[in-house]
Amino acid sequence: LTRKKISVIGAGFTGATTAFIAASKELGDVVLVDIPQVEKPTQGKALDMLEAMPVLGTDSKVTGTSDYSDTKDSDIVIITAGIARKPGMSRDDLVQTNQKVMQSVTKEVVKHSPDTTILVLTNPVDAMTYTVYKESGLPKEKVIGQSGVLDTARFCTFVAEELNVSVKDVKGFVLGGHGDDMVPLIRYSSVGGVPLDKLLDDETISGIVERTRKGGAEIVGLLGNGSAYYAPAAALVQMAEAILKDQKRLLPAIALLDGEYGYNDVYLGVPTILGENGIEKIVELDLTDSEKAELQVSKESVEKVMKVLK
Ligand code: APR
Repeated sequence: LTRKKISVIGAGFTGATTAFIAASKELGDVVLVDIPQVEKPTQGKALDMLEAMPVLGTDSKVTGTSDYSDTKDSDIVIITAGIARKPGMSRDDLVQTNQKVMQSVTKEVVKHSPDTTILVLTNPVDAMTYTVYKESGLPKEKVIGQSGVLDTARFCTFVAEELNVSVKDVKGFVLGGHGDDMVPLIRYSSVGGVPLDKLLDDETISGIVERTRKGGAEIVGLLGNGSAYYAPAAALVQMAEAILKDQKRLLPAIALLDGEYGYNDVYLGVPTILGENGIEKIVELDLTDSEKAELQVSKESVEKVMKVLK
């Protein structure tokens, strides 16, 4: 049995946090990569993490580098590189800058790990995942975007707070795009198996949905400089763990649709089964007319961003 290798591209707030959580959970050895201009700080972050391992009692190696040959034969590559959203900046403003970053990073990644699985976080995530997919030449099952795990986590946080119950018992589910465009599936949300609409009135649920939609902006507003990274990193690690350990978890992921939900050639957040082969299945649910309409809005806004791609 070989040790798993996880490369995290972008050693900023999200990348470093992702690396630390993954190493702490002993998911494998972690290689943290950033641009040559910040190689020393990247090495410093990695060494600092490595020195936490004896305290945590975990065995993961953590290294920092700007040399992609160090990522050779990664089992999974997590891309967080790019420019983060500033207050007042829309995700769309980021499109072209981050597109170039995705292209250059992906080229280097697949050169050294031609069969890897890639998880993408960089925003606007649907379009960036598509960019990585095109650039990588990997099968669609192996290029996956993160948004639904984070949106669901935010939703569950607010439900648990409202009901004063353990977050462990709250299950939520969202489809569609990230943030403003997410499609919450309330009828599949529950607390300890009890449907959510039996516990909360419509108005409270709508308030929670609205706060979840604006969850990213709420953090941006509070931080004043930069965007959320703890919960996004935790979400990435959950997806990576499902793949590395072949857990076959049913999690929302941004997947390339090939007829599912009636759409083609677009990356959109849908329920998936994540295992060693990446997206092993896209789970198709019967949607109500209003859910279908919301998913259509989501898909159109992804396409609007895609038009900005060069
Ligand atoms: N190759 C490698 N790393 C790069 C490159 C590149 N071509 N371009 C930028 N980076 C690095 C930056 O040097 C920086 O260390 O990506 C890192 C980004 O980190 P932060 O600025 O701290 O941003 P972060 O908050 O981590 O967000 C990263 O995730 O949530 C999304 O919208 C967010 O797209 C943003 C991304």
